[in-house]
Amino acid sequence: MTIMWRALPFVLLWMGTWTCVLGAETSPRPPPESRSPDDPSAKAPDALADMPMWAYGITTLPHPGDTATPQGWGRQFNPAIDRDEQLKPVLHVAGSARNYARIDLTDWANAVDWFPDEHAPMPDVVQHGSAALREKKRACAICYRVNGGGRPENAPVAGLPVEYFLRQLEDFRSGRRRSSDPRKPNVPTMIGIAQAISSDEALAAAEYYAAQSGAPRIRIVESDRAPPLRLHGNLFVATSSERTEVLTDRIAEVLDGEQEKFNDDPHVGYMAYVPRGSIERGRALSTAGSTSAQAVAPAAAQSCTACHGADLHGLDPAPPLAGRSPSYLVRQLYDFKTGARDGGLAPLMKPIASRLSTRQMTDIAAYIASLP
Ligand code: HEC
Repeated sequence: MTIMWRALPFVLLWMGTWTCVLGAETSPRPPPESRSPDDPSAKAPDALADMPMWAYGITTLPHPGDTATPQGWGRQFNPAIDRDEQLKPVLHVAGSARNYARIDLTDWANAVDWFPDEHAPMPDVVQHGSAALREKKRACAICYRVNGGGRPENAPVAGLPVEYFLRQLEDFRSGRRRSSDPRKPNVPTMIGIAQAISSDEALAAAEYYAAQSGAPRIRIVESDRAPPLRLHGNLFVATSSERTEVLTDRIAEVLDGEQEKFNDDPHVGYMAYVPRGSIERGRALSTAGSTSAQAVAPAAAQSCTACHGADLHGLDPAPPLAGRSPSYLVRQLYDFKTGARDGGLAPLMKPIASRLSTRQMTDIAAYIASLP
């Protein structure tokens, strides 16, 4: 992979603008004094000392009373780049007949669609957002991408069962599904969308994403080292292709392609560097009846495959896990553990996650993400 370093500062600036726009302008969270003691954001920072910050795209632990900075809407011009330049339709991706301008990639209300022949027509809510939000509409596909592959800072939604998708919307709507990091801006965004979306729109989005493949699959690489990373919004970007940084007890999940060519090509997916040995450790922890798993973590031993299916492709009502973003998987496990993620069927997961250490979650996610 050849990186054109001269172009990189410009691209990082550009990506920074792009990732900053992933979120909502209002936070329905109650003020700190009225939060329940179960709310992780009401807890002292040391209660979250084992938080896998890398999975949240943050570098410092949250403090009581922290809130998210509201995110924008509409077309997000980058003030550092000449406005006319941003309007020129100069972006292309291999194999697509379409051209887009830079501003098109930061338009919350109109998702770019490089390959319209590769999927069924997008429902209006997926391409443009929920009608009730009017000028503050946010298209589902801006964050989850047209193919549902998502990004590490949000979620892969391709292939999720319709019922599960709708249950999550309900859990967001009721405010029961939140983040252990109250600063994570796209969670209040998601709660705002779940409160605005109509039941017809929700069903249309659920059915559309249930039929998507999310391709390409995530590529998992076991390694002692990973490239250096920089944060843009809550998304990590590799600043070099050289693996110069020691990788211990964390996962480094980045775009699987040349960073300076970022244009949301749906044929480019993500890859994850995972600690050496983590896949085997995760397999032992996740596999039913494994004697080594029994020894390491009895609670996890019979667990994942028992409910999520032998191949972890999901078994009603438990969703599919195999091949999904490891950052997302760890974030969810940790949110179940702290109680930030609650909801209709979360009580089935909370006791499982509460018995896992952050390191075990990391190993399990490395293994599960590597599965076909
Ligand atoms: C007793 C059944 C059960 C067991 C055992 C179980 N799960 Fe789950 N899991 C569920 C259900 C049900 C949900 C959906 C919860 C909801 O609707 O919010 C879920 C959700 C999840 C999610 C969230 C997925 C998403 O799309 O957000 C993850 C991650 C997860 N489980 C991982 C695991 C792992 C890893 C194990 C083993 C250590 C495991 N689960 C064991 C039932 C189970």
